[in-house]
Amino acid sequence: MNKYLASINKKTQPAIIKKILLQAKELDTPIISDEGINLLIQLIKIGKVKKVLEIGSAIGYSAIMMALNGFVEVTTIEKDESAFIKAMENISEAKLDKKIKIIHGDALKVNVEGFYDLLFIDAAKAQYLKFLEKFKDNLNSGAIVVCDNLLFHGLVETPNVASGKRVKSLVMKIAKFNEKLISHPDFDTYIYEIGDGMSISIKK
Ligand SMILES: C[S@@+](CC[C@H](N)C(=O)[O-])C[C@H]1O[C@@H](n2cnc3c(N)ncnc32)[C@H](O)[C@@H]1O
Repeated sequence: MNKYLASINKKTQPAIIKKILLQAKELDTPIISDEGINLLIQLIKIGKVKKVLEIGSAIGYSAIMMALNGFVEVTTIEKDESAFIKAMENISEAKLDKKIKIIHGDALKVNVEGFYDLLFIDAAKAQYLKFLEKFKDNLNSGAIVVCDNLLFHGLVETPNVASGKRVKSLVMKIAKFNEKLISHPDFDTYIYEIGDGMSISIKK
């Protein structure tokens, strides 16, 4: 993020957020960038979003930030047991148990009920299209979909620089997803150079 913008955009965060940010560093847990979470929160406010579905809670940072800063109920799904336990503890410490429902499981095997105004996809990068196809019927018309890490540290733009078979294959999958997302008939999408590359789609 631009250093000047990072400093001018900086807001004082509550103690629980400072604690989770430290925890993320200590546990080496990847979380959304400052730019990314600020964008999500603004989208929630502009779009008068009431219900958010998040795929990939990790230790609860983005879910807690959304619930603290918007009038939203968040349902978030996390596959990894230790991340799920940490997220539950953090949600409870933030006193957000009533606003955040966390589900432990593989999002591809979990069904959710009802309709959401915003879907935030931030889990296994190779599965993004599957997540989108699975949950698109749980979205209201006009709902917003945000996906993170679509530039994958710049490697999607310059795939030749990617080292190792696994990373190369992941980069190709993300590139394929980006093309599918942009041309998806059910969504109007643009991808932005925010954080690690974020898309904003609007359900038609
Ligand atoms: C980048 S982290 C999420 C960060 C979080 N959204 C934040 O910004 O605070 C990705 C998380 O997705 C989880 N994940 C990966 N595949 C998943 C799946 N199929 N279902 C649910 N969670 C998944 C991982 O265990 C990991 O904790």
